[in-house]
Amino acid sequence: MDSRRRGIARRVRLVGIGAGDPDQLTVEAVEALRSAAFALVTVKREDDPLAAARLAILDRHAPDLRVVEVQDPSRDRSPTSTSTTAGYEGVVADWHDARAEAWERALETSWSASGGGDAVVLVWGDPAFYDSTIRVVEKVLARGVLAFTWDVLPGISAFQLLAARHRIVLHEVGQPIHVTTERRLADAVAAGETNVVVFLTSRTDLTGLDDWHVWWGANLGAASERLVAGRVADVAPAIADARAAAKAEAGWVMDVLLLRR
Ligand SMILES: C[S@@+](CC[C@H](N)C(=O)[O-])C[C@H]1O[C@@H](n2cnc3c(N)ncnc32)[C@H](O)[C@@H]1O
Repeated sequence: MDSRRRGIARRVRLVGIGAGDPDQLTVEAVEALRSAAFALVTVKREDDPLAAARLAILDRHAPDLRVVEVQDPSRDRSPTSTSTTAGYEGVVADWHDARAEAWERALETSWSASGGGDAVVLVWGDPAFYDSTIRVVEKVLARGVLAFTWDVLPGISAFQLLAARHRIVLHEVGQPIHVTTERRLADAVAAGETNVVVFLTSRTDLTGLDDWHVWWGANLGAASERLVAGRVADVAPAIADARAAAKAEAGWVMDVLLLRR
């Protein structure tokens, strides 16, 4: 054990790692990885491609850092539980509780072994957007078993990378952007939003938006990256094809898009 870490303060650092490209970590993030006592890496299943991407980032920037893998509790994805917004939110809350317990165990064991120090958690994109890590850390603390300080280091979010790849500003001069999920896109359009970034897509259904313009990107930052832009009615088939191709190439697909009326 590294004696310098014996008895030093316990801190959790949530490090935004960008959307998959190891070149897109900030200097601050890299320094946090290099000075940490260990990294917690959540693994959803065997051959989890996003866990593998995190390990590749560690290999590149902090190859000597000890990695503690935490098995992610499974989430109830049954249509009966998640078909309503309340049902979906309840399922997510239960999942966060289970995650908090798993993290508490992993942190306790790892800090006992290291004598304290920084635990880094590699958060996809930026921890501020559609990510539960901050809530899970708050839940771990609220359980009252472990005491530690924590901070958040920002990363490049998928929608920033989308804008960069398409070389666009995400809004028109002085105008707002509405950021939402695919689940809530129809509500946003019905409410009159005309410039919408959409996260958490599962099929990219653009029905009814034929005359809107879309800037779409999948697996941004990875070798399997795909980009499509144009009038929705003209490019919808190309998006479906590109999405399938990205998935076939990488074994996973995540996409994000900007829609503008
Ligand atoms: C759980 S959220 C995490 C978002 C992340 N915190 C961020 O700031 O980008 C996952 C969603 O982000 C988007 N996303 C994340 N990484 C992406 C990537 N490399 N390419 C395209 N979309 C991505 C997709 O909409 C995906 O469904």
